Amino acid sequence: MSFHIGAKKGEIAETVLLPGDPLRAKFIAENFLENVMCYNEVRNMLGFTGTYKGTEISIQGTGMGIPSTAIYVNELVSEYGAKTLIRIGTCGSLKREIELGEIILAISANTDSSINRHKFGGMDYSPTANFELLDKAYHKARELSIDTRVAPIFSSDSFYDDNPDRYKIWADHGVLGVEMESAVLYTIAARKNVRALTILTVSDNLITEEVAPAEDREKKIVDMARIALEII
Ligand code: HPA
Repeated sequence: MSFHIGAKKGEIAETVLLPGDPLRAKFIAENFLENVMCYNEVRNMLGFTGTYKGTEISIQGTGMGIPSTAIYVNELVSEYGAKTLIRIGTCGSLKREIELGEIILAISANTDSSINRHKFGGMDYSPTANFELLDKAYHKARELSIDTRVAPIFSSDSFYDDNPDRYKIWADHGVLGVEMESAVLYTIAARKNVRALTILTVSDNLITEEVAPAEDREKKIVDMARIALEII
C-alpha cells in the first residue's frame, strides 16, 4: 500500500490510464477490459487493473487539479513502477472555432500553478508530452478515423475566475484548451524518466459558453479510451 493507493505491489500495470473522475475509470474498466479487479477504494479514488487484447492495463482516477494529480502520479511511478501514463480528460476550448467534442492531443501544458516555479527556482519549465506516445496517438486516431488536433494546452489552478479575459493571452499564443492537471503529469514524468501523454475532449467553450451534454461527453470518452488503449 502507498499513502493514497490501497494496491499491493504488482497489482498495478506498467501502463496506466488516468481519468480525473474515478467513475470514468470504472466505466472504462467495465467496458474495455477483461479480467478486471478493483485495487483501490481509498477516498473512492477507484483504480482497476485488467487486460486489453491480452496486455495488462490499469486505470486510476486522479481527482481534479494539480495537487491531487501529483499525488497519484507520484505514487503510481515511485511505489508501483508505472512507466506509461495517459491522462484522458476534458478541457474548455479557448477559441471560438474549437468546437465541443473535438479531441486535443496536448503537446505541452502551460500553467499558472506555482508548483513548478518553486521547483525551478523562479524559472519557467515547459512541461512536454512524450513524443513517441504523441506520435502513436496521432497516427492511431487517424487510422481509427477519429479527428484530433495536436496543440499546447493550459493547466489552470482554478475553474472559476472573475476575469473573463483571463485566458486571452494564452489563446493568442496558440493554446487551444484549458484543464487542470497535465502540467504536473508531464513534469513528474520527465523527472522520473517515464512516458506521459494527455488526450482531451472539449467539454465546454469559454468564448461561446456552450457546454456539451453529459451523453456526448460519454461518447467522447469512448474515443479517447480507444486511442489510448490501442497505442499500448
Ligand atoms: N476550465 C478548467 N478546466 C476544465 C474546463 C474549464 O473550462 N473544462 C474542462 N476542464
